[in-house]
Amino acid sequence: MTTRTSLQKTLGIGLTLGVTLLWLLGVTASGLVAQHEMNEVFDSALEETAQRILPLAVTDILNRENGAGNQKAPALKDHDEYLTYLVRDEAGNILLQSHDADPGVFSRTPAEGFSDTLTHRLYGVSAVSNTIYLEVAEPLAHRRESALEAGLALLLPLLVLIPVSLLGVWWIVRLSLRKVVDFQQDIESRGAGDLSPVVEEQLPREFEPIAGAINRLLERLHRALESERSFTANSAHELRTPLATALAKVQRLKTRMPDDYLKNDVAEIEEALRSLSVLSGKLLELAKAEGGGALSQSQQDLVPILAMIARDFEAQAPGRVVLSLPEREVNSFLDPDAFAILVRNLIENALKHGSRSEPVKINLNDNGVLRVCNGGARVPPEQLALLRNRFARAKTDAAGSGLGLAIADAIAKGAGMTLHLRSPATGRQDGFEAELNLACI
Ligand SMILES: Nc1ncnc2c1ncn2[C@@H]1O[C@H](COP(=O)(O)OP(=O)(O)OP(=O)(O)O)[C@@H](O)[C@H]1O
Ligand SMILES: [Mg+2]
Repeated sequence: MTTRTSLQKTLGIGLTLGVTLLWLLGVTASGLVAQHEMNEVFDSALEETAQRILPLAVTDILNRENGAGNQKAPALKDHDEYLTYLVRDEAGNILLQSHDADPGVFSRTPAEGFSDTLTHRLYGVSAVSNTIYLEVAEPLAHRRESALEAGLALLLPLLVLIPVSLLGVWWIVRLSLRKVVDFQQDIESRGAGDLSPVVEEQLPREFEPIAGAINRLLERLHRALESERSFTANSAHELRTPLATALAKVQRLKTRMPDDYLKNDVAEIEEALRSLSVLSGKLLELAKAEGGGALSQSQQDLVPILAMIARDFEAQAPGRVVLSLPEREVNSFLDPDAFAILVRNLIENALKHGSRSEPVKINLNDNGVLRVCNGGARVPPEQLALLRNRFARAKTDAAGSGLGLAIADAIAKGAGMTLHLRSPATGRQDGFEAELNLACI
């Protein structure tokens, strides 16, 4: 399972959730405080109202001519009552009530002070030696509504806060990671052969050790590759002279041999020395190809070089090389020596691994696309994919060391080109084709 996450996403979501949670806690705390304070204000208003109405109600009741009895205080104007009141004697008989008052809201017997029912907040006061009670009722729904409105007003900013926080964090993280992204792109865009140090400056301090570690690794890699290359090149070079001397001596020896039987043995030694010599030559070519230098400073026309190489091969295998060249020049930054090594390997392969009864077609078109095609058995895809590896060979009767395509591929890569290998060849059921665009650099 992959656990890779984006820093930007994690920080954006994490910080926004944190801010939202803290805000919600703040809203809850301030909501509770606001509710408490509002209750105090509402209670004080309720108490004040009761104190104000009480003397008026007592005067009204005591001045009645017909004594006790329920009376409704007349409404001067038609309106809904928010606060209702009830004036009762100590037994609970109603003496006076506001015009909207519902006795069911109040308790059976009157009481002094604050009390709550399910729906109302009540406040009671008494007068005339606790014989007359006045109770004022205020619906709790109103208080709840006020608390809810206050809470909602505090929650509302969250609607803005969440997207602003997400955007803000995303933007800040993006800004701070810009140099890191540049750094990543710089590494990604490098060619496989580019082992120069990465730029450490301007990176956020936290990332500096990574860049340092990469540079140290690149340096070690560079040194290791360099010593491997120089070892291959030196060994191949050192082998060349003794091999050539030995070969010359063996050839001389062969001519002096009177015995045919011994002559055969010497011929075998000569053949072994020859293939050793070819191998050392290929190793040297590979070391050069992998050592870079596949690009030249200025563009060169590669058509005459290809024509010359094809002529050489035509001399070795008369009638088998079919060359088609473009009308105009094909200029490329590919180094002419590297191009010659690359093309020689491709044509040599086509001649020695391809069907002997079919020609090798070498085609360079006006767009700079070079194709070397030959007939012969198909190479299975799983083998085709491995042929660029050093010493990799598919089924073939021809001798060889398996380095030719590794050399061609190293030159193409070093020049920023792609060597395409196909089997069957384009437009055929069999055969092999190598293709390279020389003008793509
Ligand atoms: N044109 C081709 N047609 C058919 N098979 C090919 C062709 N070119 C390469 N191959 C296959 O790919 C293998 C690898 O080729 P490569 O040039 O790397 O090595 P080689 O030709 O065998 O040896 P070397 O080039 O070192 O003398 C060959 O052995 C052969 O099986
Ligand atoms: Mg070869």
